[in-house]
Amino acid sequence: MRKSQVCLLLFLVILGSLSQSALSQILLQAFNWESCSQGGSGWYDLLSSQVDAIAGAGITHVWLPPPSHSVDARGYLPGRLYDLNVSRYGNETQLRALVAAFHRRGIKCVADVVLNHRTAERKDGRGVYCIFEGGTPDGRLDWGPHMLCRNDSYSDGTGNADTGLDYQPAPDLDHLNARVRSELADWLNWLKADVGFDGWRLDFANGYSPAVAGMYINATSPDLAAAEIWTDLAYEADGKPRANQDAHRQILAAWVDAVGGPAAAFDYTTKGVLQAALNFSELWRMQDAQGRAPGLVGLRPAQSVTFVDNHDTGSKTQHSWPFPPEKVLQGYAYILSHPGIPCIFYDHFFDPTMKDEIATMIKIRTRDKIGPTSSLRILLAQHDAYVAEIDGKVVAKVGARYDVSKIVPPEFVVTTSGNDFAIWEN
Ligand SMILES: *[C@@H]1O[C@H](CO)[C@@H](O)[C@H](O)[C@H]1NC(C)=O
Ligand SMILES: *[C@@H]1O[C@H](CO)[C@@H](O)[C@H](O)[C@H]1NC(C)=O
Ligand SMILES: *[C@@H]1O[C@H](CO)[C@@H](O)[C@H](O)[C@H]1NC(C)=O
Ligand SMILES: *[C@@H]1O[C@H](CO)[C@@H](O)[C@H](O)[C@H]1NC(C)=O
Ligand SMILES: *[C@@H]1O[C@H](CO)[C@@H](O)[C@H](O)[C@H]1NC(C)=O
Repeated sequence: MRKSQVCLLLFLVILGSLSQSALSQILLQAFNWESCSQGGSGWYDLLSSQVDAIAGAGITHVWLPPPSHSVDARGYLPGRLYDLNVSRYGNETQLRALVAAFHRRGIKCVADVVLNHRTAERKDGRGVYCIFEGGTPDGRLDWGPHMLCRNDSYSDGTGNADTGLDYQPAPDLDHLNARVRSELADWLNWLKADVGFDGWRLDFANGYSPAVAGMYINATSPDLAAAEIWTDLAYEADGKPRANQDAHRQILAAWVDAVGGPAAAFDYTTKGVLQAALNFSELWRMQDAQGRAPGLVGLRPAQSVTFVDNHDTGSKTQHSWPFPPEKVLQGYAYILSHPGIPCIFYDHFFDPTMKDEIATMIKIRTRDKIGPTSSLRILLAQHDAYVAEIDGKVVAKVGARYDVSKIVPPEFVVTTSGNDFAIWEN
């Protein structure tokens, strides 16, 4: 072959593998609310023993818990950011071994990063002077009140005004301070280059502005940056969500538009609408007035991380907004057949009553190359049945109605089915 042909071939191979990986992102949230209390040698070691099962199922990315020293057991009130040795999930050696084990199986690791707030090492009681220590000998991240927002409800900050929501349980960091920005970006780049993380899940991302989020994302070039922006749906007087949740998803769409680049958001709209639609047998909810999906995924599919439950909403001891347990597989039949970036919750992935079916759905998604921007054609959305065709390759049905044979095009055959769901392939 001539050199130019070799180059072209190489280019096509690289292009092919890039689009393949972009097409097939499937996330696993690899922890729950109880993971911090795992006995024995801890959660990281337990996950290390599950890497083969996770890789074998076709997962491409795992979302791991916040890694740093923290005042709370779960890592969401971090203090000494560089100290990965005192986490309740395991120590730094165990974390590095876990990340390396995932990488050996081609799985990317997403760190849960808490940038909005940080707990102080010493303070004179609530609302007074805060002194931070970074956990490094060279003084990085050793901060005082000037690095905190001046209108923070927790502390005596003297920095700039907060660019986002106030977080009451801890001091809010002043991201307009150049030192704060550069030292936090350095920490993220250390997690990436040294520990091996590939991307970020941005905790409480409405605590700072999209411009701030964009700055951290641009400074660290993550493979994926998925934001937690969790606001309430609008409800009717009877306690059911309103039919139109457009305002809810527009908040998420505005955020991903403003941040740009690889920024995505967890699709809380889809979660809320889907669980109400299944729970109340009101599957008409699954189509908006323009015939699109009603969540963020209907507007910005490539930036939408769809999910059924997470550590907050669904864990046994947290359970703040759970998907109805008997409808969970229908939820996965929807998110694993539809556009968006699906994220499977640990508790469901390893649930003996669901794991085989979830693995089958992942195989179908991968085999038919369904990806974030696959085309969605909704064929039916009535109270007892929702049927949609994706990319002309897959048809998915959820809902109690059994016979939808008049709706499903004849060239499709059922390849998996269960209680109130079925998936066909062309
Ligand atoms: C990390 O934890 C493991 C399991 O508890 C222990 O065997 C190991 O010695 C620890 N490593 C360090 C460096 O503390
Ligand atoms: C954590 O433990 C590792 C292994 O012993 C050590 O290399 C590292 O310096 C420790 N980090 C901190 C912040 O103590
Ligand atoms: C802090 O000040 C900014 C700018 O005035 C404002 O937008 C924000 O809402 C304030 N936050 C709090 C918690 O008071
Ligand atoms: C980040 O990079 C994107 C893409 O280049 C750009 O549109 C955006 O303005 C940048 N954001 C910030 C905060 O620099
Ligand atoms: C499901 O419906 C029941 C009442 O039938 C209600 O108590 C529950 O909150 C609903 N759950 C969701 C997630 O909508």
